[in-house]
Amino acid sequence: MSVDLEFWAAALRNVWGHEAKLERLDGEYDLNFLARATNGQDYVLKVMRAGCAPDLVDMQVKALEHIAAAAPGLPFPKVFPTIDGAFLPEIADETGAPRLAWLLERLPGECYAKSNPKPLDLIVKLGRVLGATGRALKGFEHDGLARAFKWDLMQGGWIANKLDAVEDPARRALLADIVQAFAAIKPELETLPKQAIHNDANDYNILVEGALGEPKQVSGLIDLGDMCAAPRICDLAICGAYIVLDHPNPEAALAGLVQGYHAAGRLSAQEVDLIWPLLRMRLAVSVVNSTLMAVENPEDPYVTISQAPAWRFLENDAVNGGLMSARLRAACYLPVTDGADRVHAYLEEHRGEFADLFGRDLSDVPMGSLSVENSTWPQNPFHMPLEEAARVGEEFGPDWWLGYYSEPRLIYAEPGFRKGPWKASDRRTVHLAVDVFAPAGTPLYAPMSARVEVVENRTGHLDYGGVVILHHETPEGDAFYTLYGHLDPEVCDRLKPGDPVARGAAFARLGDHTQNGGWAPHVHFQLALTTDGMEADWPGVGDPDEMYLWHKVCPNPAPMLNLPDDKVFYQPTDKGGVLQGRQDHFGGNLSLTYDDPVMLVRGWKHHLFDEWGRPYLDAYNNVPHVGHAHPRIQAVAADQLKRMNSNTRYLHPAQTAFADKVLSKMREHLEVCFFVNSGTEANELALRLARAHTGKKGIVTPDHGYHGNTNAAVAISAYKFNKPGGIGQADWVELVEVADDYRGSFKRDDPERAQKFADLVDPAIAALQERGQGLAGFIAETFPSVGGQIIPPKGYLPAVYEKIRAAGGVCIADEVQTGLGRLGEHYFGFEHQGALPDIVVLGKPIGNGHPLGVLVTTKEIAQSFDNGIEFFSTFGGSTLSCRIGKEVLDIVDDEGLQDNAQQMGDKLMTGLKALEAKHGCVGDVRGMGLFLGVELINPDGSEGTEICKYVKNRMRDHRILIGSEGPKDNILKIRPPLTIEAEDVEMILWALDQVLSEVGDFEPARDHSCGHEHHHHGCGCC
Ligand SMILES: Cc1ncc(COP(=O)(O)O)c(C=O)c1O
Repeated sequence: MSVDLEFWAAALRNVWGHEAKLERLDGEYDLNFLARATNGQDYVLKVMRAGCAPDLVDMQVKALEHIAAAAPGLPFPKVFPTIDGAFLPEIADETGAPRLAWLLERLPGECYAKSNPKPLDLIVKLGRVLGATGRALKGFEHDGLARAFKWDLMQGGWIANKLDAVEDPARRALLADIVQAFAAIKPELETLPKQAIHNDANDYNILVEGALGEPKQVSGLIDLGDMCAAPRICDLAICGAYIVLDHPNPEAALAGLVQGYHAAGRLSAQEVDLIWPLLRMRLAVSVVNSTLMAVENPEDPYVTISQAPAWRFLENDAVNGGLMSARLRAACYLPVTDGADRVHAYLEEHRGEFADLFGRDLSDVPMGSLSVENSTWPQNPFHMPLEEAARVGEEFGPDWWLGYYSEPRLIYAEPGFRKGPWKASDRRTVHLAVDVFAPAGTPLYAPMSARVEVVENRTGHLDYGGVVILHHETPEGDAFYTLYGHLDPEVCDRLKPGDPVARGAAFARLGDHTQNGGWAPHVHFQLALTTDGMEADWPGVGDPDEMYLWHKVCPNPAPMLNLPDDKVFYQPTDKGGVLQGRQDHFGGNLSLTYDDPVMLVRGWKHHLFDEWGRPYLDAYNNVPHVGHAHPRIQAVAADQLKRMNSNTRYLHPAQTAFADKVLSKMREHLEVCFFVNSGTEANELALRLARAHTGKKGIVTPDHGYHGNTNAAVAISAYKFNKPGGIGQADWVELVEVADDYRGSFKRDDPERAQKFADLVDPAIAALQERGQGLAGFIAETFPSVGGQIIPPKGYLPAVYEKIRAAGGVCIADEVQTGLGRLGEHYFGFEHQGALPDIVVLGKPIGNGHPLGVLVTTKEIAQSFDNGIEFFSTFGGSTLSCRIGKEVLDIVDDEGLQDNAQQMGDKLMTGLKALEAKHGCVGDVRGMGLFLGVELINPDGSEGTEICKYVKNRMRDHRILIGSEGPKDNILKIRPPLTIEAEDVEMILWALDQVLSEVGDFEPARDHSCGHEHHHHGCGCC
């Protein structure tokens, strides 16, 4: 039906006194308009269908007035009165039929369903809004609230008779279970007070706003059309039912929502326990309802499609419903079981009185830490070989020692501990027990009387071997449990479930590594307050981000060991304290990456680990060229430090061996090496050499370059001296435009661009000569890195070098970023260009983290520098440095890392090109091998600085470290260690795809809500 916009615009003018331009919004039966008024305000004008029952509309209008009065801060739309002061006037439509109409404030934001990402803190805020809404609606009364309708969850039992409509028997059975669980809680629900609730906080009725990278806020909760009177917990369960759908971590999302709700409107434990069955019931009602609608409208595919997320969730076995009650209670700081507080009190009261687990006092037994920070077990945090497991912690033995509770460890290395597909996915690291390491065969005595709950032999790789779970009870009858892992499996022959075990009875003994899953002999002693959702398969370690739950479900078992809690409770280094110390004692311009900095304490190849054992894929750091913690580097360093470490004033074969190795990678004319401590020092030296050789001072260098942090190095680094607050340009320096054929003066479609960029050197040389500086040389990062990962057009450098040499200058190639095989196809960047430098500067990767710089040059230049004054760098060319430097270059060869750089680089490049085609914010993808740049742009093509910052931070949320560069800091810099593997490349591409899609959502063109007042389950429009 065509609608006369002018007619309703006139109505708006006449009845409400607002001049506005109307746009039609969706609506099944009613007319909805977005009214953009000349007063600058946007309204939503709602004209109800003819003959609509006024009481339900009246209920909404009154409810909004009520909320506005009771809790004016809540994000509900205001209702505006007519000129006559009415809120729900009757207006004759074009046909003369009377229609009820109302005018609402139009709230900002986009609907939650389309908002991407959906961070946990937003979900917590949503919970708060919902909780506060519940409070605000508490006293609201209206006749419309007490009606019979299918979306009143209390009346949801109607689906029981409709399950036959669901064809799949497994799904029918699943729904029948849900209906049954609902019937079981129904009597309890009936006892709860009823009040007005929103009843439809689905993801299309929640509006969200927040600029790119800013925290998101709930900007609207709309559509009160389904309000009814019910226990408030139904409101939370309904909202939860939408929040969990397709969420990557639905349990955490629901816990966040409930935590937020609880903060605004205290929940009782009884209410919290009802959430999970109610949530599932809501989804059951939803799928049954749409199944019935599909029967009625077989033509409408949307009806079936819209059910899919709910089915996916209901059928997802990975979500642990059994543990949900404990989880949600823990999120609300409520006791995880009804008896939890009494159990704690009991344990506290009897600390010191339990029978000693090993028949001896443990208080003098020393602690041994296997934590991420303190331990290097296992060397490879992605693989725990049996050989290492059998020796784990041997440095604390052979006498008795104790392992910490709540200690993050890397010994849980196998993929089974990962919670996602990637090596850097979340992983369970935190030990939930206390370990007692003692000789195999040592007997264990029951700390208190018990009944055997589980006894079995788990023979899996690094599993428990023999394991016993005992069931205990306090005198008040509250149950709790203890688990003993890594036992001699003979226990299975002696005990069976249900057997009583007397206090102090010897019930098992420690297994050896052939019996106990493969470990050094010890018991894993864990306490649990419930077995719900854990049954026999208790997690012995938890995700560090889920400790709010696990500390409650599996508390510190110290009391049962007659030990003080502190003795066995592990506290990692406090990141906040380290940050504070840094702020107190370091300069403010010692910058930290990321809004929320990472503290990294372990590494292996191209992965790093924080203090909690969370893994990060290192796609940024080029210094650990052959990988973090390379065993060969460790070995040569340790070996050399055992022998001696001195300087170049004495002969040592390591010096010449390193020089030979470096020179074997160079063209013949480069014959002399200088060893220094850093890239900076090497560049300083390069300037001295060039000046000694030419007798001139002037240097030509591309703009935005970086060569180091000392006076002269900064003077040739426009990236530093030209920044606000920089020292400015020295009169012996001339800048030329970077040969950037994406953004620069000459673009990729210009076949002459290499020569045209090179020609810019002519006026620079002339300027230096005119100023009397003369030309000492030209220095450039072969491929400008801080300038934005730029690959100059082929032929650029040879053309520049020709001009420089013609003017008497020396050509210096800074290969700190590009050298040593990173480029895949070439060992050095100048090879790509077909250029022959006179001086090559190497740094960063050549020491794999050990401070080392190398300068390589010709005999002639070295001779010019040899003017009788000694050259000496105390640490440059130390025995240790030479051993390490050579080892790095050997490893690159031995492990085929240059070749790997080429293959992985190609794979990355192909994937990045696909992302460029898919995402408008990717302007350019460039690079070579594992030296890659992704230029991010705004919709107008300008540098996407904010986008880049956002992407970098979000990639860190996905546990991928990536850098950013460029004059406007809008280029993602990808330069992982050369060890990176195909699955890591896939992870980078997958995560980048996710994050770039989020950026898409922030594009200004899409930065508005649809403005629709949604009816029921969303219109699918915004
Ligand atoms: C191209 C280039 N040259 C020189 C340096 C300075 O090296 P260093 O920090 O080891 O002194 C850097 C450091 O980032 C660099 O990227």
